[in-house]
Amino acid sequence: MSDYKTLFKRKSVRKFDKSLSVSEKELADLTAFFENCVPLLPHIATDFRIVKREQTDCRWGQYAILFFSEKKEGYLENIGYMGEQLDLYLAERNLGACWYGMASCEVSAPEGMDFVIVMSFGKSREEDFRKDRSEFQRKDLAKTFEGDASGALLGALEDARFAPSACNSQPWHVTVKEGTLTVSRHSDSPLAKVVKKIPNYFNRIDVGIYLCFLETALTAHGIAFERACTFDGGEAPVRYTLQ
Ligand SMILES: Cc1cc2nc3c(=O)[nH]c(=O)nc-3n(C[C@H](O)[C@H](O)[C@H](O)COP(=O)(O)O)c2cc1C
Repeated sequence: MSDYKTLFKRKSVRKFDKSLSVSEKELADLTAFFENCVPLLPHIATDFRIVKREQTDCRWGQYAILFFSEKKEGYLENIGYMGEQLDLYLAERNLGACWYGMASCEVSAPEGMDFVIVMSFGKSREEDFRKDRSEFQRKDLAKTFEGDASGALLGALEDARFAPSACNSQPWHVTVKEGTLTVSRHSDSPLAKVVKKIPNYFNRIDVGIYLCFLETALTAHGIAFERACTFDGGEAPVRYTLQ
């Protein structure tokens, strides 16, 4: 799983000092890490490519990661889950990244796959990241959670809510009942009515991102779990049996 401390360090980095640059070694290590990204849905083929920012219409960052995937049920959640592992990997190494839903790239997708989304990144400094939880702007847990949680589980849920999301919409809802934790998608952001791509596209990626945060937090709090996903075109329910 991802590094727990980095959940509270990462942020969307959009400003870069042009005197800094990503080294060849950092690029090679990142490419090697692609292979270590754990999928949510292993039966869906994915591909990630690093290109220079100039090959995209991104407005910041030195490079961009292009995400491609087979278009199968749950592919957006799968890209969110895997891409967030990359976001956290980058932040851990002071490489500032930003999921970039509005960006596109004229690169042809690998056969059988579609272009999904871009993540821009560049070299940053430690001080470009968050130092304190008070720097996050997120909904209170009570707005996205119902059920019985205390102790370690409550701690994990408090941590997971720091996950990033498109327009900070935080479209996840968690229910805990009789040892089962259920995550569903609620696209209730006012922006979802204006930007049509938010509820059915970006918010599915957001749910995958949230699952990466949730699992990292559950593991760090010593809670073992088993996950079952049923992406059947509905509210994208994901169930965790807590042990
Ligand atoms: C799927 C997705 C798409 C996003 N697209 C954009 C974008 O097009 N432009 C942008 O400036 N930020 C974009 N963001 C970044 C969010 O605005 C940001 O994650 C959110 O406001 C929370 O802030 P934080 O990442 O600094 O914690 C996107 C985030 C996600 C998860």
